[in-house]
Amino acid sequence: MIRRYDYGTPLLTDAVVLSVEPEKGNPGGITVEDLKPGIRFTLPMTEETQLFGLGQAVRGIDKRGHIYRSWNTDDVLHTENKAALYGSHNFLLIVNPGDTLGLFLDDPGDIRWDLGATEENQIVITSLGGDVSLYLIQDRDPLTVCRAFRGLIGKSYIPPFWAFGYIQSRWGYAGEEDITKVVTEHRQKHIPMDGICLDIDYMDRFRDFTWNPKTVPDPAGMVKRLREKNVHVIPIIDAGIPVDENDPACADGLKNDTFVHREDGSLFQAAVWPGLCYFTDYLNTRCRNWFGDLYRPMLEAGVDGFWNDMNEPSLFYSRDGLEAAWKEIDSLKDRNLGQSEFWALKRAVDSLANNPEDYRAFWHDMDGQKVRHDRVHNLYGAGMTKAAMDGMHRFDPDRRFLLFTRSSYIGSHRYGGIWTGDNCAWWSHLKLNLQMLPGLSMCGYLFSGADLGGFNNDTTGDLVLRWLELGIFVPLMRNHAALGTREKDICRFSRWKDMRNIVTLRYALLPFLYSEFLKAVDSGTPLFMPLAFLYPGDTVACHTQDQVMLTEQCMIAPVYEQNAVGRHVYLPEDMLMLRMRSCTDMDACVMEKGAHFVPCALNEALLFIRKGYQIPLVMHDVESTVDLRAGLSFTMAGWKDAQPYELWEDDGEHVSAPVISRTLAPGRGADNRSGLLR
Ligand code: GLC
Repeated sequence: MIRRYDYGTPLLTDAVVLSVEPEKGNPGGITVEDLKPGIRFTLPMTEETQLFGLGQAVRGIDKRGHIYRSWNTDDVLHTENKAALYGSHNFLLIVNPGDTLGLFLDDPGDIRWDLGATEENQIVITSLGGDVSLYLIQDRDPLTVCRAFRGLIGKSYIPPFWAFGYIQSRWGYAGEEDITKVVTEHRQKHIPMDGICLDIDYMDRFRDFTWNPKTVPDPAGMVKRLREKNVHVIPIIDAGIPVDENDPACADGLKNDTFVHREDGSLFQAAVWPGLCYFTDYLNTRCRNWFGDLYRPMLEAGVDGFWNDMNEPSLFYSRDGLEAAWKEIDSLKDRNLGQSEFWALKRAVDSLANNPEDYRAFWHDMDGQKVRHDRVHNLYGAGMTKAAMDGMHRFDPDRRFLLFTRSSYIGSHRYGGIWTGDNCAWWSHLKLNLQMLPGLSMCGYLFSGADLGGFNNDTTGDLVLRWLELGIFVPLMRNHAALGTREKDICRFSRWKDMRNIVTLRYALLPFLYSEFLKAVDSGTPLFMPLAFLYPGDTVACHTQDQVMLTEQCMIAPVYEQNAVGRHVYLPEDMLMLRMRSCTDMDACVMEKGAHFVPCALNEALLFIRKGYQIPLVMHDVESTVDLRAGLSFTMAGWKDAQPYELWEDDGEHVSAPVISRTLAPGRGADNRSGLLR
């Protein structure tokens, strides 16, 4: 049963799809304080309580022991002292033995989550605005609560089948020549791939919905030529529209009054890549639809996938903020700068970007209701996601499009996927990628992924290889890099053959992953979950922070440390380990319950299969997902005497395509230490 309690004046956020009548009074077991303004919820914890959820957030799988913040932020350093990243996913799972409470704060403003950081045995959640719908779901086990929550927020977005293929990306590919070169080299080296992203470089002066006439003279032709190679082109779209009446999107937006205003009615201006920009009021239906229709010419050119960016919104500086900074700098000019003056100078520049004052300086018209931005800040990116997907579906209602976005709020999981933003080429970020997976899954973000190999900094071949060994299990598998960093597509490394072989594993697993993805969308079961969900009585399993269940059938435990020749793995029960080097080179062995050091060479990926299961693999080399549609045979991998596998498939292209389920009979399976696959 789902209970709801309202405080202040909650806004319509589009997060939930079920209508739940608010109850009177306060929920039992939770202390509620009215802070005027703001509201605070305090809950006790015991030593045993575990906390899961919160989606995109730093640190471990169990979120206990840190202060988090819901405030969508373009922060380029995802270090563990940070409280907020790009998405706000206000769902917390409070797990006690035999009793789980799911708590969802539908409040798109600023929220602090003190999860036992200040007071060890207390959860203190503070909504600074105080306009909240609090949803509570209580049941015996976390999986039941998660499923109920996903029922509340509606089914997750399903991308086209091809989007599960390998995607290459880089900030710096200027246009057709660059990307054709990359694609051609991948094809020559038989590295399977399905998509290539275009970053802001493809645009004319970084302006949305334009193409650079020099580097992309024939957009439709380029898209067609790449599609003939079974590669989809995925351009980026940013949130800001340049302040320039000669820019068609700007002129049209001004004519139709679709941009956000300040309190005095003037238009809010702040800079992003093209310089000063206006910002569409995505929280207004008319303006949202206007923006969504801007995608149409690109769709007509054959584009069927996009990534939306800078939509927290990220602001380099606002017009007002810059003026104030110049004044400050002028006042310090020609002076002997002592400590306080020097810090003032530094602050004047450092505080320009994403300044809290700027987020208080503009207003939304939420279909008739005027709302200051900071109250609904975390909804902005979600509005852009909805704008884009609705726009695409007005163009073609039954087509599935790829869309992933940076900023998000629960609800947008129905319209698109997310990527987790600008990570670094750090081993700790490979681990963070793994640790974020369960939380994202619980919050409905099934189609998500991190920049493989790391976005910022120069990466290394071993890090890319190890990261690919995790990436093969994650729905969005994209290798992306920042401008100016070392080239890092697979072809650039001496170990490219090993990397290619690992990518072939993605395609071997893809029908299984897709089938499980469809099931997870349908049932609300997380695709990735903590071991605690399936082994509640096993203390070691419950507290394991670097292994994750991939569905109820498998466990993943990738190597995430530099120069490691393997890793410690805890098996909560006997499991069958698949050691995989390529789609045609793998072996299996049964391992006993308990702690192991598992050797894992740099060119190997591991998958652990639970007792009683077999999973289907495609043990054939393929070039792209097109080859997977050609009815290749499956090899069943897993335990002897396993139950049959229900494979879910659909046409992978249409929203209305029916799911077809077929039963795959188990193969011979493995039952001893030198177990075979077939
Ligand atoms: C942002 C995005 C990154 C992109 C860059 C340039 O930093 O997060 O992925 O490459 O902008 O568009």
